[in-house]
Amino acid sequence: MQQELSAELLCSIANTYGTPLYVYNADKITAQFRNLQSAFVNSNTRFFYACKSLTNINILKHILSIGCSIDCSSVNEAHLALHVGFKPENVLYTSNGIDFTEIEEALGLGININIDSLSNLEKFGKKYGHSYPVGIRLRPNIMAGGNLKISTGHSNSKFGIPIEQVDEILQLVQEHQIFIRGLHIHTGSEIKDVSVFMKVAEVFFDLVPHFPELEFLDLGGGFKVAYKERDHLTDIAVLGKEIEKFLGNLEMKHQKKFQCWFEPGKYLVSESGYLIAKVNVLKTSQDTVFAGVNTGLNHLIRPMMYDAFHRIANISNPEGEIKTYTVTGNICETDTFGTDRHLHEVREGDFLAIYNAGAYGFEMSSNYNARYKPAEVLVLDGKASLIRKRDEFSDLLRNQITVL
Ligand code: LLP
Repeated sequence: MQQELSAELLCSIANTYGTPLYVYNADKITAQFRNLQSAFVNSNTRFFYACKSLTNINILKHILSIGCSIDCSSVNEAHLALHVGFKPENVLYTSNGIDFTEIEEALGLGININIDSLSNLEKFGKKYGHSYPVGIRLRPNIMAGGNLKISTGHSNSKFGIPIEQVDEILQLVQEHQIFIRGLHIHTGSEIKDVSVFMKVAEVFFDLVPHFPELEFLDLGGGFKVAYKERDHLTDIAVLGKEIEKFLGNLEMKHQKKFQCWFEPGKYLVSESGYLIAKVNVLKTSQDTVFAGVNTGLNHLIRPMMYDAFHRIANISNPEGEIKTYTVTGNICETDTFGTDRHLHEVREGDFLAIYNAGAYGFEMSSNYNARYKPAEVLVLDGKASLIRKRDEFSDLLRNQITVL
């Protein structure tokens, strides 16, 4: 299994398909999924790929082929999942802030649903009573995650039903005899510490007795991957053991088996993806040399939106002398990919690879500045295939209506 694509291969793919270009390595996705499976081999756990991180249908098909289930954050993502062949029972829809009609639509698809507001829970109860099992998304008031923008479990977060409203939940469940099959808590993205997940498990432990029909406890996503060389990561092996203990304790207490669910996004696809850009211009300034590339925040917004660090390498001059550059985009905004990076000598026309671009890269891209969205390529079994065409001018006009 080839876990990292070589500079040489990436350059040859960039020469074939042009830049800017997203390249994904299917083997890496498989390897990450197998890591999870082996870490949780002794606990009754299911994994649902959080497809908001990357929804190209070929990636979804690959996820399906390796035996992973799928988590969706909109009903359209659920339609995509079903379109590529996921069975409804393997599709989970964790909603937030949605109109009740979207829940009705999801229910019509026969998929698993987590409801995240008292208002929708009440509407659900009134209309469906006990007829359709659902999960409840809770907000535990726990601060976790890499930065505030990707923290979802704290006491000022819009996500989930605040835990202090559990009495209201129980009242609705009682009144409408709602079939609560699961509880869900996602506290954030890039959670380094296993203890955060175990705090969530403790919250569940106390709630379980109130929901006699419970089958699963969903701890969301958020496993941290390495963006920097010495990054501290979620210790999946330790988490697997802790979850095994937790499920064992629950079983002993309630004489009933429960299942844990997780919804990893970044863990599965972040490291599989590369954004390849060409250097348009070099500009020498008093403090740095700018390497201006033919992509920008329209294609990868994470460095600008979250101050996220993405490793960058000059893949077309790997023997060049190491020099310092600030890598900037071509959008009419300050779109810096990396400040004072040590790269092999950069020449105009070189290809730079931006690493860890699989998750929330293409997926958060836009046509800002009327620039085209990039093409996407998947490397599978040693073969590179185009899985999305680069935009062309007609894509900028699509859906616009001429009235003048
Ligand atoms: N489950 C739920 C309910 C979520 O809201 C998310 C992410 C996940 C699972 C997957 O989290 P992951 O395993 O990927 O950390 N655009 C941001 C991340 C936003 C995450 C949104 N929710 C970024 O690029 O860092």
